[in-house]
Amino acid sequence: MQQMLLICRPGFESDLAAEIQEKAAARAVFGFVRAKPNEGFVVFEGQEPDAAERLLKGLPFQDLVFARQWLAVVAHLPQVDPQDRINPILEALSGQACHSAWMSYPDTNDGKGLSKLVRKLERPLEKALAKQLNSKAGFHLHLFFESGTDIWVGLTPVKNAAPWPLGFPRLRQPPSAPSRSTLKLEEAWLQLIPEAQRASLLKPFQKAVDLGAAPGGWTWQLVQRGMQVTAIDNGPMDKALLDSGQVKHLREDAFSYKPPRPVDWLVCDMVEKPARVAELMERWLVQGWTRFAIFNLKLPMKRRWLEVSRILARMETELESAGCVYQLRAKQLYHDREEITVFAAPRHY
Ligand SMILES: C[S@@+](CC[C@H](N)C(=O)[O-])C[C@H]1O[C@@H](n2cnc3c(N)ncnc32)[C@H](O)[C@@H]1O
Repeated sequence: MQQMLLICRPGFESDLAAEIQEKAAARAVFGFVRAKPNEGFVVFEGQEPDAAERLLKGLPFQDLVFARQWLAVVAHLPQVDPQDRINPILEALSGQACHSAWMSYPDTNDGKGLSKLVRKLERPLEKALAKQLNSKAGFHLHLFFESGTDIWVGLTPVKNAAPWPLGFPRLRQPPSAPSRSTLKLEEAWLQLIPEAQRASLLKPFQKAVDLGAAPGGWTWQLVQRGMQVTAIDNGPMDKALLDSGQVKHLREDAFSYKPPRPVDWLVCDMVEKPARVAELMERWLVQGWTRFAIFNLKLPMKRRWLEVSRILARMETELESAGCVYQLRAKQLYHDREEITVFAAPRHY
């Protein structure tokens, strides 16, 4: 397979294009990217016929910041008969075994309008594929609907992709959480911490610090996990959270606050220059004030990939030169707008 289709937040196509081109080239997979503004996806066109296989083998999906999901393209069917979508798909697949049948569409207004069609196709597709579906297969069949009649038939590896077809989990706003930002931290945990490690990393009685905490959406998540939280913000915190007995609110400046003792978790969601936040996080990690950190970096208006890659590379270098053996994992989450979320953890935890 020569092409990869990658899904992103609409408006970030050029950032994803720059990122995938750079990361593919670093693995000696050369090609160019077709990307149109606000379409919510890009297509990497490899030079070699096995470019997609080589990318899937050499590039961990979790290393991509701006991609929500990806598929190696088996066939592009730009004008499918709306009376019979399934047979051309089966023909394109030519008997390939698949773990399951996934369908997705761009996260645009037109794209979201396709969700009904996708639901309607689920049963008939699974029926038609019955002989090909096999839970041991390494790939999901992935149909990406550019429109109701323009379908990309592809394969998404079970073990090297986001575990949700569209690339993000559907989360409900908890009624007692004080802000919508709460979903950002919940999604970050699901997206950035592998499932097998989540329970051992997020445990009751752990100590956490939330920098820029008010009104308390992120603190709420930490409290739900049974943690003891120090919330730093000059603004007011949600009263019910303070009444939980698990939260200590300090009206201090996040840039000068020092924890009296090391903590397990640092989280930080401040609207600040990304380089300044990165430096603050470096300080906490290098000083050993926290073991794990999750923080947001606001994105610049232009050339966002360039800026993000510079900041992350600088952080990695600084941490390494201080003998701090850490890994950084960054992602633009579904709940992130003009920002990305970063998870920092000791390399061997
Ligand atoms: C986006 S809000 C945080 C929302 C919070 N994560 C939630 O889920 O409810 C950013 C917060 O950072 C705080 N903030 C900004 N700069 C700060 C600083 N230097 N020290 C402490 N808090 C700061 C603001 O007062 C604001 O409440």
